[in-house]
Amino acid sequence: MCGIIGYLGPGDGISLSLRGLERLEYRGYDSAGLAAWQKGKIVCQKTKGQVKILRQKILSLPESKSHLVIAHNRWATHGEPSKINAHPQSDCSRKIFLVHNGVIENYQSLKKWLKERGHSFFSQTDTEVIAHLIEENYQGNLLEAVQKTLPLLSGAYGLAVISESEPERLVVAKKGSPLVIGVCQKGEYIVASDPVAIIEHTRKIIYLDDEEIGVLSPQGVRITNSSNSLVKKEAQSVEWDLAKIEKEGFPHFMLKEIFKQPETIKNALRGRVNKKQGKVKLGGLKDWLSFIANCPRAVFLACGTSWHAGLIGKYYFENLVGLPANAEYASEFRYSQQPIDPQVAYFVISQSGETADTLASLRKIKKHGGHVFGLINVVGSTIAREADAGVYIHAGPEIGVASTKAFTSQVTLLSILALSLVQEKKLWPLSEMKKSLIALEQIPQQVEEVLKNAKRIKSLAKKYYQFQNALYLGREYNFPVALEGALKLKEISYIHAEGYPAAEIKHGPIALIDQNMPTFVVATNPDDLVYQKVITNIEEIKARGGNILAVANSGDKVIENLANQVILVPQTLDFLSPIINIIPWQLWSYYVAVQRGCDVDKPRNLAKSVTVE
Ligand code: F6R
Repeated sequence: MCGIIGYLGPGDGISLSLRGLERLEYRGYDSAGLAAWQKGKIVCQKTKGQVKILRQKILSLPESKSHLVIAHNRWATHGEPSKINAHPQSDCSRKIFLVHNGVIENYQSLKKWLKERGHSFFSQTDTEVIAHLIEENYQGNLLEAVQKTLPLLSGAYGLAVISESEPERLVVAKKGSPLVIGVCQKGEYIVASDPVAIIEHTRKIIYLDDEEIGVLSPQGVRITNSSNSLVKKEAQSVEWDLAKIEKEGFPHFMLKEIFKQPETIKNALRGRVNKKQGKVKLGGLKDWLSFIANCPRAVFLACGTSWHAGLIGKYYFENLVGLPANAEYASEFRYSQQPIDPQVAYFVISQSGETADTLASLRKIKKHGGHVFGLINVVGSTIAREADAGVYIHAGPEIGVASTKAFTSQVTLLSILALSLVQEKKLWPLSEMKKSLIALEQIPQQVEEVLKNAKRIKSLAKKYYQFQNALYLGREYNFPVALEGALKLKEISYIHAEGYPAAEIKHGPIALIDQNMPTFVVATNPDDLVYQKVITNIEEIKARGGNILAVANSGDKVIENLANQVILVPQTLDFLSPIINIIPWQLWSYYVAVQRGCDVDKPRNLAKSVTVE
């Protein structure tokens, strides 16, 4: 949440920063701002709204270029989205400017103290106190002032700071929020919350760790830790290809990412599945596999869509491996009294690898001697670096605020993880393992087939988009699919939707059913134990005048006769079915939102990478 970009070098820092802000818009888009050193002064432009508005305002700056720039996309935490609350924030003298991602929890007491010392505040933000504290500590050296300020802050920050008196310096600091430095050439650097804002200029990235401070100058990058000792850091090479962060002809990132799933699922499988030998391997966890296979219990920790994947992981561990497992919201777990057990295998699942609650849970577990394993998308992210071990889902950059391809890759990887444990514990005959791996390898092709239904789903969306509430139902492996379908719909089209285990409707939600409340049901795998039960639930809804839109397997005449509309998908093994069954709901949510005129890639009040609590 919130995107930071900064530039120091001989090039055109302003246009580069604006471009960077556009790439970071998935992190926040309620306001934007930029501060640049020009002709001996720092000039600042801010606006409520998106970067495109800021771009217009920048035209009024005295010059079009600058060698030293900081800029920001905001996702409001303290203070409404407005020009005043937009970053950069500055001190009383308007000589020190900074951009911040995170939350300063003790800002009220600091503000009171600073006011008593005569500082005047302009915004309602927590960030502004940092600028005034740096002013308070400034004695001609920006680095020293920042070093004195940081210990006074509690909370999280990614920071980039500049001073009018030091035109050759950009000071950056990180604690809890991500910050990376792109090295273009000696004396030319770009700072950003995410490498996506940098990689069109350089692939060489330095990842800052918590409590590190970096000073960028024409002489180079100097990084120190909280004890002011020099930290030697090598730039790492980021392999992402530029096309992955472009829309590639799709109208929205979300649609592109939905359509890329055959490829991203293949990437999750690559090198991990050998169907001929009937073997799976997960290199990143190989040293821990025996520990996990023999642990008494596993816990999956995540938020939002990643938590839905974790819930599927729970079913995998219990049903396939016979290992008791829980999926817990990281935001609850971090404050729970649950004792940390060093025998338990804790898994953190995160697309961004930066989600504040998931990271806090990881740190809590490690602090109390537990072992944590990551299933992460963003290579080099904080959670990926801090986990004891882990595997990458290799979905590539996910820019659409609504997570789609990360979910299917997470579930794919969870299935491989469960199968690795089955293999480690020698639970299945080779023939059964081979059967599962053949099915797993067919998934990308089957997803491709579902995507061919996009036109029909679009036309259904045109017919149904005006409903105000929706119920999503599924059972067992497809209960998390119901939760995820409902989440997708509500976050991008603002329609109230709830996901339920199908049999639970009789315990309350069935009271809501009438012709205006559509029910979306997953009823695949007719041989499955729970299929017949779902059919009964559909009958109950029909009997009360409800409308049913079902995802079912091709050739299922029972559902075709029962439901008002059916979206057919290819059949796979029951445990792999969520990877296929979620695709129609992703497309459905997308087309409903577009039909309702919603900004799919920038849904209101949301932002990707939730780095604040
Ligand atoms: C929903 C969505 C969020 C994220 C959640 C966790 O579409 O994107 O619910 O899944 O914020 O994010 P990560 O996976 O980055 O930890």
